Amino acid sequence: MYSTHLWHPCSQMKDYESFNPLNITQAKGNFVYHNNKPIIDAISSWWCKSLGHNHPQLQAALITQLNLLEHTILANTTNPTIEKFTKKLCTLTRTDKVLFASDGSCAVEIALKMSIHARIIRGQTKKTQFAALRNSYHGETCATLSVSDSGLYKKPYQSLLFDCTFLTAIPYVSGKKDILWHDAKEHWFQTQTQLEMIKDKLNAIIIEPLIQGAGGMLIYSKDYLSYLSQWCKENDVYLIADEIMTGIGRTGKMLACQYANITADFICLSKGLTSGMLPLSVCLTHDFIYALFYDDYKTQKAFMHSHTHSGNTLACAVALATLETFENEQILDYVNHTLAPTLARNLYEVADKTQALHNIHHLGAVVAADIKNPSHPRQGYQVYQKAVQLGAFLRPLGNTIYWLPPLNTDLKTLNQLKDITIQALLTLD
Ligand SMILES: Cc1ncc(COP(=O)(O)O)c(C=O)c1O
Repeated sequence: MYSTHLWHPCSQMKDYESFNPLNITQAKGNFVYHNNKPIIDAISSWWCKSLGHNHPQLQAALITQLNLLEHTILANTTNPTIEKFTKKLCTLTRTDKVLFASDGSCAVEIALKMSIHARIIRGQTKKTQFAALRNSYHGETCATLSVSDSGLYKKPYQSLLFDCTFLTAIPYVSGKKDILWHDAKEHWFQTQTQLEMIKDKLNAIIIEPLIQGAGGMLIYSKDYLSYLSQWCKENDVYLIADEIMTGIGRTGKMLACQYANITADFICLSKGLTSGMLPLSVCLTHDFIYALFYDDYKTQKAFMHSHTHSGNTLACAVALATLETFENEQILDYVNHTLAPTLARNLYEVADKTQALHNIHHLGAVVAADIKNPSHPRQGYQVYQKAVQLGAFLRPLGNTIYWLPPLNTDLKTLNQLKDITIQALLTLD
């Protein structure tokens, strides 16, 4: 039996009997060091290391803040770092207000709770239901699991969860050149029929805009997202954009919703917000929501949600430095003109040279493909093992191989990653 005191997340611990966890002694840029051996972090350590590991500007911001103030309770206090960060974040995202949590799931919980609470204040007590997309993933607390379509993750906890309607007609695309990306009318009409049946009771629709990460890096049409947003506005249904993976530049725009020119009522961000240096998440919203909750204390309309580490100042200082570094280093330009096209081209080359992949899809700095005719359900896991031995940390989702590297990964590393992926795939049984 594999046994240490550490119980790893999202792992069958028995797997570690045959393949030990990596022993990370250091991390820098695009690399983690396993017993001092460099390994390419091809998945940005669960999608969060947007500027790589230990970026010097972020490290400097952290140390400066550490010497001033690390954290205070955020009820009844504020500080210059948080004021500056929230202002910048709202300007970038065209929102007005920021509520803080630490993990992505908790930011989604805030959005779910706040949307329901808003209905109560508005006297719309029948509008209590949520809809989400098929294959969605919004986190692993009980409320976020309820709005996730992730069988494996939620099945044992069904007794703790609430009902959610899952919209089924999703126009998945291979990328921006796919016809459905621009025109998803047919799929939308099917979705509309599904929505019309529940609209009187519907409080909010929650989506991962354009890329469903844990569902298999599935990419869907921006036209569909526009229709969905328009329908929400026309039918007084809130739209919650869970941009925890897609936000802060991952798709080539600051927010994925910008592809469809929409602004959701609630926007959740985490992961890349601090480039994964410290845990921080936010739920962003607008003045029209804020105004609902704003009244004399005795009316009991206040949004009484808090976490001990709401708005941790160290994390906010790093998040502010992350946003500034995006501007200073023109990260979005690099993603759009260099990283995204190289990732896509390289994955097509992998597919060509190995003949082991199909269904390639990509958007911004996310590329994915499925193993063709897998001989067993864990071939992806075999690819992970082989790639680690060769020097790249891939963590396939089932039999879907994907790359989601730091947004500033250089071309040499991308080509190294391509060669390692080819070799790993060529050794599959
Ligand atoms: C879209 C999305 N929402 C929510 C979450 C949950 O975030 P966390 O793991 O920080 O709770 C994730 C995590 O992968 C995610 O990808």
